[in-house]
Amino acid sequence: METAYFNGKFIPKDEISISPDDRGFLFADGIYEVARWYESFFYDMTSHVTRLKRSLRELRINWDGADLFPSIANDLIRLNKLGSQQAMVYFQVTRGAAVRTHYFPSPETTPTVYANAWGFVPDNQSLESGIKVMLKEDIRWSRCDIKSIALLPNTISFQEAFENGMKECIFVRNGLITEGSHSNIFFVIDGTLFTHPESNQVLSGITRKNVLRIAQELGIKIREEAVQENRIRFIREAFITNTSAEVTPVIDLGGNTLGDGLPGPMTRLIREKFDAEIKAIKG
Ligand code: PDD
Repeated sequence: METAYFNGKFIPKDEISISPDDRGFLFADGIYEVARWYESFFYDMTSHVTRLKRSLRELRINWDGADLFPSIANDLIRLNKLGSQQAMVYFQVTRGAAVRTHYFPSPETTPTVYANAWGFVPDNQSLESGIKVMLKEDIRWSRCDIKSIALLPNTISFQEAFENGMKECIFVRNGLITEGSHSNIFFVIDGTLFTHPESNQVLSGITRKNVLRIAQELGIKIREEAVQENRIRFIREAFITNTSAEVTPVIDLGGNTLGDGLPGPMTRLIREKFDAEIKAIKG
C-alpha cells in the first residue's frame, strides 16, 4: 500500500480525494517539484526548496510550508520503505478549491498539497549509449521558468517523440533551441559548452545548474547562449539534463547524427564527475 502526503497527513494514496473545484483540476493552477533520492540522501534538496518557493511566489499561491518539503520527502521515503534504493519524490501545490472564476479566489483559500514517492530504476541503456531526440516547434507559453503543472504542450510534444521511438522532444522557438519537454539541453561546438541562458523560455533546471558548476570546475569553456537550429551541423556533442536522466548523451538530434554517433568525450567527462560527486556524498 503506497503512502502519500495530502494536506498535512500521510495516508494511503488511494484514500485521497480532491474536490472537482480544485483549481489544479480546473485550470492546472499549481506548481510542482521532483526530487531524487540516492539510497541515503536527496540530491541538492536546497535548490528544490528554493525553486518551489520561487514558483509559488511567481504564481502568488499563498502556501508558507515550502520549508516542509525535505521532511515530507524524507517521511515518504521511510513510510514507503524506499530508504535503501533510488527513488523519486513528486510534490505539488495547487491554489486550492474555489468556485470557478478567472480571477484568483480569496487569499484565504487553502492550497492543496500532495506528494508521493516511488522506487526509481535509472535508464542505464540511455545513459551509456545515448538517445535520439526529436526537434519540434516550441508551442509552450512564455513563462517556462515557472515549474507549473500546466504541461499539455510538453506532453503532446513528447508523445509524438515517444511514438517515434525517441527519448525526448527538444523545442525550437524563433530558430533557437530552447530545452526539452522535460529536460535542459547542452551542446558542444568547437570545444565550447553551450546551453540556453536562464530566461522565461526555459526552466532553470537544478541538474543544469550543477552541470554548469561541474563544467566550470573542469575548466571547460562555457557559453550560456542559445544555439540556432541552423547550426546543428556544427554540433559535435549534446546531452540532456534533468533529475531522472542526470547527464544523458544525445547522439541524434532531429535526424542529424551528432559527431560520430556515440556519446562524446566532454559529455563523458561531465557525466563521470557528476557520478563521482554522487558517490562522494554517499560516502
Ligand atoms: N522535469 N526543463 C523542463 C521543461 C523540465 O520539466 C525539467 C524537469 C527540466 C530539468 O530540471 P531539473 O534538472 O531540475 O530536473 C528542464 C521533471 C524531471 C519532470 O517534469 O518530471
